[in-house]
Amino acid sequence: MATPVGEQPVSFSAQQLRELRDDLQRFLLEYRFGLHEVETKISILREEFSHMHDYNPIEHVTSRVKSPDSLVAKVVRKGVEADFDSIRAHITDIAGVRITCSFRADAYRLFDLLTAQPDITVMAVKDYIAEPKPNGYKSLHAIVSVPVYLSTGAVQVPVEIQFRTIAMDFWASLEHKIYYKYDQQVPDSLLAELKDAADSASALDARMQRLHQELHGPARPPHMRAV
Ligand code: GTP
Ligand code: MG
Repeated sequence: MATPVGEQPVSFSAQQLRELRDDLQRFLLEYRFGLHEVETKISILREEFSHMHDYNPIEHVTSRVKSPDSLVAKVVRKGVEADFDSIRAHITDIAGVRITCSFRADAYRLFDLLTAQPDITVMAVKDYIAEPKPNGYKSLHAIVSVPVYLSTGAVQVPVEIQFRTIAMDFWASLEHKIYYKYDQQVPDSLLAELKDAADSASALDARMQRLHQELHGPARPPHMRAV
């Protein structure tokens, strides 16, 4: 295979390759455990809501550990040193959970409930609902750290949690497909239409939230929230 320009050719023995594969699998395993911790917290809230309250704020939850391919691509794209310590320190979305809620207020409510838990440490928050990206993208992003207890002791694992509504999710998944279909070179007319669709999705969210409040009353402030 040709060596890319600027890179030194490196060769590994079969044994070294196997060790590298094992190291990577062990590295990713911690993220899988971190994901389990967060998923359990979400399942508990979800189950409790359906028992105790008259509606469930969570529509669906998806999660993933970054594939080795996309991890390597991000390491290269961000110019991160290719060792596990630097990757651990600089790539904080190796474990990712997406919580899709019915209403905008629920996205914030779930965020409050999860980040108030004492074993969750908030590392960063990006509120693209309050400040959407120029293309119209909306979601509330949090990088949190959760403890995972291994036989060798506790490790803190970062997990990216995205909170969004069904309308935001619908828009984001279409935008993602278009972006890839056009290999990131989306024609201007389509970008304008996407922005317009994002505005329609927001208007729908606002309208649905209003209707919902007519049925259930306004969202309660955090100290009155029944959990
Ligand atoms: P990444 O390098 O992509 O992780 O970006 P970042 O580190 O600047 O983080 P950011 O919070 O902006 O985005 C993280 C994730 O949010 C992405 O991996 C996507 O899942 C989602 N996201 C962010 N921007 C967009 C967007 O414009 N469109 C869609 N469809 N998803 C987005
Ligand atoms: Mg990402």
